[in-house]
Amino acid sequence: MCGIVGYIGIEPAVPVLMAGLEKLEYRGYDSAGISVCTDGIYTVKTKGGLSDLAKKIEQVTLPEATLGIGHTRWATHGVPSDVNSHPHVSQDGKISLVHNGIIENYLELKAELTEKGYRFLSETDTEIAAQLFASLYDGDMVATLRRMLQKIRGAYAFGIICSDHPDCLLAVRKDSPLLVGLGKNENFIASDIPALLEHTRDYYLLEDNEIVLLKQDGASVFDLEGRPVQKEVFHVTWDFSAAQKEGYDYFMMKEIMEQPRALLKTISPRMTQNGISLDGIGLTEEMISSLRRIHIVACGSAWHAGVVGRYVIEKLTRIPVEVDIASEFRYREPIFGENELCIIISQSGETADTLAALREAKRNGVRVLSIVNVVGSSIARESDDVLYTWAGPEIAVATTKGYTTQLAVLYLIALYFAKAKGTLSAQEEQTYLQELEKMPAKTESFLKNCGFLKGLAKQYAKREDFFIIGRGIDYAAAMESSLKLKEISYIHSEAYAAGELKHGTISLIEEGTPVIAIATQESLFEKLLSNIKEVKARGAKVIAIAKEGNRAIEDVADEVIYIPEAPDLLTASYNVLPMQVFAYHVAVARGCNVDKPRNLAKSVTVE
Ligand code: F6R
Repeated sequence: MCGIVGYIGIEPAVPVLMAGLEKLEYRGYDSAGISVCTDGIYTVKTKGGLSDLAKKIEQVTLPEATLGIGHTRWATHGVPSDVNSHPHVSQDGKISLVHNGIIENYLELKAELTEKGYRFLSETDTEIAAQLFASLYDGDMVATLRRMLQKIRGAYAFGIICSDHPDCLLAVRKDSPLLVGLGKNENFIASDIPALLEHTRDYYLLEDNEIVLLKQDGASVFDLEGRPVQKEVFHVTWDFSAAQKEGYDYFMMKEIMEQPRALLKTISPRMTQNGISLDGIGLTEEMISSLRRIHIVACGSAWHAGVVGRYVIEKLTRIPVEVDIASEFRYREPIFGENELCIIISQSGETADTLAALREAKRNGVRVLSIVNVVGSSIARESDDVLYTWAGPEIAVATTKGYTTQLAVLYLIALYFAKAKGTLSAQEEQTYLQELEKMPAKTESFLKNCGFLKGLAKQYAKREDFFIIGRGIDYAAAMESSLKLKEISYIHSEAYAAGELKHGTISLIEEGTPVIAIATQESLFEKLLSNIKEVKARGAKVIAIAKEGNRAIEDVADEVIYIPEAPDLLTASYNVLPMQVFAYHVAVARGCNVDKPRNLAKSVTVE
């Protein structure tokens, strides 16, 4: 989703802004632009990528400015076009503004401004903000912004510059991420850490409605009443290399290969002599024992992890679990009761729908435990308890290590809760703990030996439809596998509960239709073999995913991919691995931009 950078310092602003925008490309965008400020505002913007923007910048002569803002836009209001790209400049040419989020009452504001004689060039809600700021401007940037925020409804991160103040960069956020990078003789704003890392590791996390005024030598933060706010300085601890491809063609493959380490970092600190220890959670044994229901809420792959989590938590703890897609959750008016818990899952911790679901649960008095990868993100900060997935930064749009570490945390929660509730024997607990400990090594061993998937992917790269079937946890895994294939290779695929196929959809199976059958559940293995036979009888070409021991599958499938032996409840962590790698190679073979699939954004900060 949109990316914002801003710079004020002593270096030429254009290269800093362009390098920062490049680091935010992973968020997904369709147009880009920059404004710099010296004696006036100078703006260059274009539909397309950063290379298009760079070409356009070469064609004009921009002044040697040391103040500027930049933006990558993911279209919401109005098509991707030069004129709809950010920054947007006010009619009097004084104000330039970039925005991430959506201004909900923009039509109302537009009507008011039109009445006052303002004219608009674009279809965007953002241009309204630029004009509104200009209409309220009285020489004091902070005071003007405070007045503007009283009029605006919606979600926003704004970066603003004004030609009257070539020594000031102004910013604010609400429900959209924005960081303040603190350098020496230079300061920054950015939507995410990678855009800052080349310059500084120190940053402020802005809270909702905190306004920051950056100058070359410092950053002052104010609340909506204009009172100064003292901020804690955070320090990025992860390695710069984490945001580099390090020899891989794409971040996605690098991140697939990082899964063993990410799992180790997520699991091992939580394994102690006395079983699982869940750092930092305030849920007591008594609270866990009295839980009547758990709501899991998330979007996309995180929701798929939640679906796996439901099977595992219900099975091990006997606590009923409901899993909801966050964008649906609020609007179905969920019924909350006493002694309930809401588990929110989000890699970025900034997904707008998921954040809204969290707030809905809290508004109803339900305790929220979140599983989040980005430290200090909005979801992490607003939850009662947070369990971090220590996956490190995930840059590729399609999640891989984010998802598998979410699964790992869900297993830890299930086992911890089962122990508190006494629903698991000591021996069963031991078996699961040992299996969890082996998970990083087993993942590594699979990934080291999965080169053959490249050839398989090449064979199937020209197909346009896939079915992916499974039962129980394998069905949840089928959904994630299908999403991986769809989002990066643009091949249509459908995940189906294997037993449901015959109730209608099997009519789509014809000679040669590729069907990937995930068959890793012992108790459902025979049933899945029957489902495979049903599609084979109608001409399907079947690739099966099975545990190493289940060689019987070779009699019914055309190809078999074996995953490591594991208890049924943990297999989702392994059967997604071949599908991540398969989808990756199919996408590469089709010439797709694996890390930045069309139309997609990494962090979905609009509802
Ligand atoms: C798919 C993918 C998305 C995210 C979803 C939620 O590969 O990455 O489906 O899982 O947008 O994002 P987070 O986890 O950041 O809330």
